[in-house]
Amino acid sequence: MTDLAIETEGLVKVFGTNRAVDGIDLRVPAGTVYGVLGPNGAGKTTAVKMLATLLRPDGGRARVFGKDVVEDADTVRGRVSLTGQYASVDEDLTGTENLVLLGRLLGHGRSAARERSAQLLEAFGLAEASDRQVKNYSGGMRRRIDIAASILNVPDLLFLDEPTTGLDPRSRNQVWDIVRAVVAQGTTVLLTTQYLDEADQLASRIAVIDHGKVIAEGTKGELKASVGSGSVRVRLRDPEQRAEAERVLTTALDATVQLDPDPVALTATLDGRGTGLGAAEQAARALTELARAGIMVDDFGLGQPSLDEVFLALTDRAPAARTPAHDPKETPA
Ligand SMILES: Nc1ncnc2c1ncn2[C@@H]1O[C@H](COP(=O)(O)OP(=O)(O)OP(=O)(O)O)[C@@H](O)[C@H]1O
Ligand SMILES: [Mg+2]
Repeated sequence: MTDLAIETEGLVKVFGTNRAVDGIDLRVPAGTVYGVLGPNGAGKTTAVKMLATLLRPDGGRARVFGKDVVEDADTVRGRVSLTGQYASVDEDLTGTENLVLLGRLLGHGRSAARERSAQLLEAFGLAEASDRQVKNYSGGMRRRIDIAASILNVPDLLFLDEPTTGLDPRSRNQVWDIVRAVVAQGTTVLLTTQYLDEADQLASRIAVIDHGKVIAEGTKGELKASVGSGSVRVRLRDPEQRAEAERVLTTALDATVQLDPDPVALTATLDGRGTGLGAAEQAARALTELARAGIMVDDFGLGQPSLDEVFLALTDRAPAARTPAHDPKETPA
């Protein structure tokens, strides 16, 4: 049996009449990045706060490394760290001052705190900014110092609540590298995100939550497979043959066929359940049937379903659009 870093059963949090977390069951294997994916208001932060002992559950139970988050809250607190969506460093202090102060609060001696602080600032690319006040940091630097602060003591379990929301692509990649480095040291990471590509990049398993409930859970491969096996995109020689090609593909593959804006292109979304064939076999069948019908194909491609398609299929809604922050000051906290 794999060790579980987190195990919840029917976890509930109610605010007034709003069941923000409405019966969540999670099993997070130790030593991995586990993604909790959901739109605004899905209940991600509320769930994380209960797991980090900052909020008391109204129902169900949750264990962190086998310890109950209510009954053994102190033990749990000793093993976890949280980088919040609404983070913790002091704006008026410099990077170094923040980390040294927090290190001292965690019980490090003065020189140990200074040493660890310098080490983290260096590792996170903040050495040059170490003597500047945090209020003058860009959004990306700010997020990195937040994560640095949360791993002053290397925790067994790190909660990262939307660590890259509002960051530009470069800063986002830096945060991703940090997450990978943290996991390589043996820390389990529970990462919440609204971004499918982020979960795709970092997480080995993903729970999709919406309205306080887990609506899908599995490895990335399992989630993708749950919406079908992919798609076949075909480009024809002659746009006049497109209507006929659409009919042939619909029948041959038992698939939904979309006409692309390009007048010679069409895409069949494969549904692995129906035919029992893999994507490649279905593509072969599609090409055979098109040839048999006398339709000339210039080009074709096979696509894997994206996590975006998974999300859309599960929630009937498009996922959050990524909006890079142009002005770091406007970065959501
Ligand atoms: N302290 C609170 N008091 C009342 N309602 C709350 C409180 N905290 C959260 N909620 C509500 O609970 C629901 C879930 O909120 P939560 O912050 O957990 O969502 P989230 O998934 O983290 O969203 P986001 O992506 O916007 O951060 C929302 O409807 C929110 O308005
Ligand atoms: Mg949140």
